[in-house]
Amino acid sequence: MKTSFGSDNHSGVHPKVLKALEDANQGYCLSYEEDEYSAQAGRVFKSFFGDQSRVYFVFNGTAANVLCLQALTRPHHSIICATTAHLHQDECGAPERFTGCKVLTADTGDGKLTPAHIKPHLTGFGFQHHSQPKVISISQSTELGTVYTPEEIKELADLAHNHNMYLHMDGSRLANAAAFLDLPFSAFTCDVGVDALSFGGTKNGMLLGEAVLFFDPKLSQDFLYVRKQSMQLFSKSRFVAAQYLAYFKNDLWLENAQHANRMARYLADKVSNLPGVQITQKVESNAVFAILPKPAYQQLVKKHFFYVWDELTDEVRWMCSFNTQKSYIDAFVNDLKNTLL
Ligand SMILES: Cc1ncc(COP(=O)(O)O)c(C=O)c1O
Repeated sequence: MKTSFGSDNHSGVHPKVLKALEDANQGYCLSYEEDEYSAQAGRVFKSFFGDQSRVYFVFNGTAANVLCLQALTRPHHSIICATTAHLHQDECGAPERFTGCKVLTADTGDGKLTPAHIKPHLTGFGFQHHSQPKVISISQSTELGTVYTPEEIKELADLAHNHNMYLHMDGSRLANAAAFLDLPFSAFTCDVGVDALSFGGTKNGMLLGEAVLFFDPKLSQDFLYVRKQSMQLFSKSRFVAAQYLAYFKNDLWLENAQHANRMARYLADKVSNLPGVQITQKVESNAVFAILPKPAYQQLVKKHFFYVWDELTDEVRWMCSFNTQKSYIDAFVNDLKNTLL
């Protein structure tokens, strides 16, 4: 496949990350995060999130979400998320299987939960027949490409904490949100009450490996064992840590995310006035959602890979990434125009 709007995961690895892997491939090193690369990466994470934060590497984003939730819950709890949440739609029931919790969802329209969506689920506290609400989980940026403001997150965190609950953030696209908000990570995570964070990198230029962060060390007390028992402890940890070090060096993460976001904006601007094309979500990160005539996207998708998001409404999703090129977007838009004639 030459190019694709299917997913930010369809892009490869950033050359600087790949080079860091090669550089790390020298000599011997301790394993299981006892190596110097992991120690160094841990220090960088602490510089972003503070000394109280704890970071652990896992293999992928699903594991980061599931293990965050596992650390925060017991099987009689429930987890509240948007209907569109990856953890509800795309994790094959892993959160339910590994936590034993009930997952409760709310329809949002734009992928963002508000207190009004959550309140109907905040019932049955102390009632033995009812699963006990314990975690609100949000995605930043959301699966629909929208981004929560720090104020919106704080409102959710306050709501959670007032009910003796936690706020988890699925940050598989955290960099895109930071780039859009033009804020440091801490301003919309630990500073506004997020308790546990899945910190992604794969969608923004890394090869593999995601990080789990807790902002109160008490929450991570048993995490070493939770992770090992869940088969997410990687022995050659230096190769995840080295990727993160390259990702953070000279703000590569930001450069990549800014580029991906800019490309999504460029694409949206180019198609928004085309007859029959309707952009359906605010373009705040690296995703463009649009409704277009079925014959048009059926023809277009033969030439340019992307996913149909909703067959019933003829809505498609176009994802940009750190290596999406303007020239590709131009060619894509030309072909789209021809299908609309
Ligand atoms: C919002 C969100 N969270 C988490 C993930 C992590 O998925 P994976 O387990 O494939 O790394 C993805 C990947 O598509 C995602 O879009």
